[in-house]
Amino acid sequence: MSVSCKNELLHQLSWIPLISGLGLIVLLRHIISFTRWVTAAFLSPPKDLRSRYGSWAIVTGCTDGTGRAFALKLAQRGLNLILVSRNRDKLERLSEELLAVNGHLQVRILALDFSGDISDGVREIEEMAKELDVGVLINNVGVTYPVARFFHEVEDELWRSIVRVNVEGTVRVTRAVLPAMFRRGRGAVVSIGSGGAVVAPSHPLSAIYAATKAFVDQLSRSLHVEYRHHGIDIQCQKAVSKISHAVDLNLSLAAVYMSTVPGSNEEPNLYGIVRALVSDADIWRAGIGAGGLPIGGPWNNL
Ligand SMILES: NC(=O)c1ccc[n+]([C@@H]2O[C@H](COP(=O)([O-])OP(=O)(O)OC[C@H]3O[C@@H](n4cnc5c(N)ncnc54)[C@H](OP(=O)(O)O)[C@@H]3O)[C@@H](O)[C@H]2O)c1
Repeated sequence: MSVSCKNELLHQLSWIPLISGLGLIVLLRHIISFTRWVTAAFLSPPKDLRSRYGSWAIVTGCTDGTGRAFALKLAQRGLNLILVSRNRDKLERLSEELLAVNGHLQVRILALDFSGDISDGVREIEEMAKELDVGVLINNVGVTYPVARFFHEVEDELWRSIVRVNVEGTVRVTRAVLPAMFRRGRGAVVSIGSGGAVVAPSHPLSAIYAATKAFVDQLSRSLHVEYRHHGIDIQCQKAVSKISHAVDLNLSLAAVYMSTVPGSNEEPNLYGIVRALVSDADIWRAGIGAGGLPIGGPWNNL
């Protein structure tokens, strides 16, 4: 081997420790991030939500599914509730149910259709946030297409109402509640996103819905950084699919109800089996009960 060839080989070998070092740093970063997530999600004790954030919580889209599960869970955790949803009868029924869970609870209801003009309702929410010690906001209300559709097939009224409910509703309710949280120096805002926007590489045939949920995710990330030094924790939880719905729709059994808080009175089904495997408390800790994780993990823990 000629001397120049040998020198070239030595020169190239000299890069190996540098490249390995960089690889090690990236690997360590992932290991630390994963360890912090496991600690926050499964090992740290849950927070006392009342003393950390405040004694009232607002849940939008609360009479069914995830929102209802949040309402029940928050009631069990001793928070008074402001229930916001479209149907007054269902709101009243849920209110009675919550009072049965916890007789000391205070519950207010607000019937509001997020697909229409929500100005008056938002003003009411703003007033309640000023008057009451509202510490937790769950932006859960969200709608999608009744069936999968090509973008050009989605009627104007349908996509507009999806944008109004998912984007405008989330922004306006958050803006109504945040100033009071800011003044008090504490609060938590949890918005429900979707795996369709961030876990899957794309979400064809639900493009508008996926785009609105990507908006909610990005909004939450940015607000998290804006407000984390003001005592306000902000996160987006991305549900992949609710197994109860997935089964109803005969969709994949592999669907995972990833990041919402169980506790609803749904009929036993696969969702129930998952709940049995992963306790409520664990999932709750992965949500707003957890502490300290940087945004960007699978659950964007607080
Ligand atoms: N289900 C899933 O598999 C899945 C997957 C990913 C993300 N998500 C997200 O998770 C969140 C909850 O979904 P979900 O499936 O649990 O919902 P759901 O079971 O369909 O319940 C919807 C709730 O929202 C209320 N609501 C619907 N339209 C409304 C409107 N225009 N104005 C006010 N309230 C309205 C309903 O209230 P009334 O019936 O009283 O009108 C009901 O309480 C949504 O943001 C959704 O995008 C769900």
